[in-house]
Amino acid sequence: MAEIGSDLQRAKSILESGGLVAIPTETVYGLAGNALNPEAVARIFEVKNRPSFDPLIVHLPTAEALSLYAQPYPKVAGQLAAAFWPGPLTLLLPRKSIIPDLVTSGLPEAGFRVPAHELTLRLLKSLSFPLAAPSANPFGYVSPTTPEHVEAQLGTKLDYILDGGPCSVGVESTIIAFREKPLILRPGGLSMEALQQVIGAVEIAARSTSNPIAPGLLTSHYAPRKKLILGTLSELVTQYPISSSAILSFRTDYQGPYQIILSNTGSLVEAAQRLFSALRIMDQMPVDQILAERLPMEGLGLAINDRLQRAAGEG
Ligand code: TXA
Ligand code: MG
Repeated sequence: MAEIGSDLQRAKSILESGGLVAIPTETVYGLAGNALNPEAVARIFEVKNRPSFDPLIVHLPTAEALSLYAQPYPKVAGQLAAAFWPGPLTLLLPRKSIIPDLVTSGLPEAGFRVPAHELTLRLLKSLSFPLAAPSANPFGYVSPTTPEHVEAQLGTKLDYILDGGPCSVGVESTIIAFREKPLILRPGGLSMEALQQVIGAVEIAARSTSNPIAPGLLTSHYAPRKKLILGTLSELVTQYPISSSAILSFRTDYQGPYQIILSNTGSLVEAAQRLFSALRIMDQMPVDQILAERLPMEGLGLAINDRLQRAAGEG
């Protein structure tokens, strides 16, 4: 059992001795270790049961710290960092060699972000190294948005879970790469509209089942254990027995015995906050399948639909 608490000194000393700590961020909880220590990084892959070809995000205390770990980068990247950090945005930038190969799976670029969580920012500022942290879930499963989610799945493999309460955003960061144009590799907690306001046109990478540009773009990532069927709920509830189906709707009440409405008021922000908890709860319900619908393709709807599609194993 891992201890859950808010002792920053404890978290700091575990990390300084090469151990791992689960940390809160505004998006999801991370499984953190010293990003400059290959042994700590190797332990992250081991605890998560994550293939070493799937690189980790490097978490920094401030945007200024970027110059220590990244090579010179495009001006737009600096504009985005200034506009949105701390926040749910990961920038893929050429790394300096101080970042070990294992962090990036040998790729020349590393993902960097400054998370917007007060406790974790205090921790990062107290350390002399950045934190490599993937989401704190076993590989392929839904990301954790509470300390209890982390404890339930990785509790036996971890010493300490830093308790920062439930995550305010609820879906992982938006990942952006700088190619001919800025390219969104993973829609996430920062909306495309917000990005466009600062840098104009951005493209979204197509997902693929093989040879993905970003390994985390693999389909069937972020999946609950139960079969999830994505479609029009008014039809799905006539095709599947309602007594053995969990119904995940945006705002409509389908009167099912196993139902979660993501936001009664139709808020995409609230829906994102509740999404992963809802999938975990549904995984525990006595049902054979989860029926779900797509949300409007605006704001955080892109990220939510992306996670639902992956949970359904769709490309
Ligand atoms: O919100 C988040 O981003 C959370 C919190 C903890 O910060 N972290 C997170 O990490 O979602 P993770 O490891 O579950 O997903 C990170 C994804 C990887 O699967 C990969 O697709 C992409 O980021 N990524 C990271 N570094 C990369 C790199 N150097 N090149 C390409 N893709 C990279
Ligand atoms: Mg993850």
